[in-house]
Amino acid sequence: MKLKIAPSLLAADFSRLPDEIKKVEKESDLLHVDVMDGHFVPNLTLGPMVVEAIRSLSTLPLDVHLMISEPEKYLEAFAKAGSHILTIHVEAAQEKTPLLLSRIKALGLKAGLALNPDTPLSAARDYFSKADMVLLMTVHPGFGGQKFIQNVLSKVEELRKNYSGDIEVDGGIDPQTGGEAVRRGANVLVAGTYIFRSDDSREAIRRLRQCQ
Ligand code: DX5
Ligand code: ZN
Repeated sequence: MKLKIAPSLLAADFSRLPDEIKKVEKESDLLHVDVMDGHFVPNLTLGPMVVEAIRSLSTLPLDVHLMISEPEKYLEAFAKAGSHILTIHVEAAQEKTPLLLSRIKALGLKAGLALNPDTPLSAARDYFSKADMVLLMTVHPGFGGQKFIQNVLSKVEELRKNYSGDIEVDGGIDPQTGGEAVRRGANVLVAGTYIFRSDDSREAIRRLRQCQ
């Protein structure tokens, strides 16, 4: 499977966002945008208005990660803002998960399903076939710069045995942890700190690409 690299803008300098995006644009496949509501996770970030602004700064597909409690209320707004992939958390959507994945697709977008590090695959088993991408969180969501949780790797491997869509990992990704995740079956690497806080973002992305 083709390896895709998705820089997470959470670690970018938002006061110079156009420059930060330009720095990574050529080497990347997606731009990862973290939406947090201060409820599902203990942090607040941005909403559809800022997603729309980011959309105007880049032609890369936007990989929008919704860490919010009531995703059903905002799917249309994030679609209109220019998202390409819209990812919801199974812990937030619960039994509404299949309905919301269908609604995301009906809006013409790719539907992603995210699982927190402590959520077993069994909690979402019936839903994977409806998702274009599964995001296995490799840190507890809410903040950038955290340490990669090693025991998620067995979940990646287990999921890959019977899932042929994209498997994304997010949190604490660098060439070493990214390499391990790719060996276990992941093919989309999200990285914030490693890319934006390195002296040479382009070189950082090239190193991640060597994970394949
Ligand atoms: C965390 C976010 C991640 C975060 C990753 O809740 O979902 O996308 O930006 O940041 P790093 O790569 O710094 O762990
Ligand atoms: Zn994310």
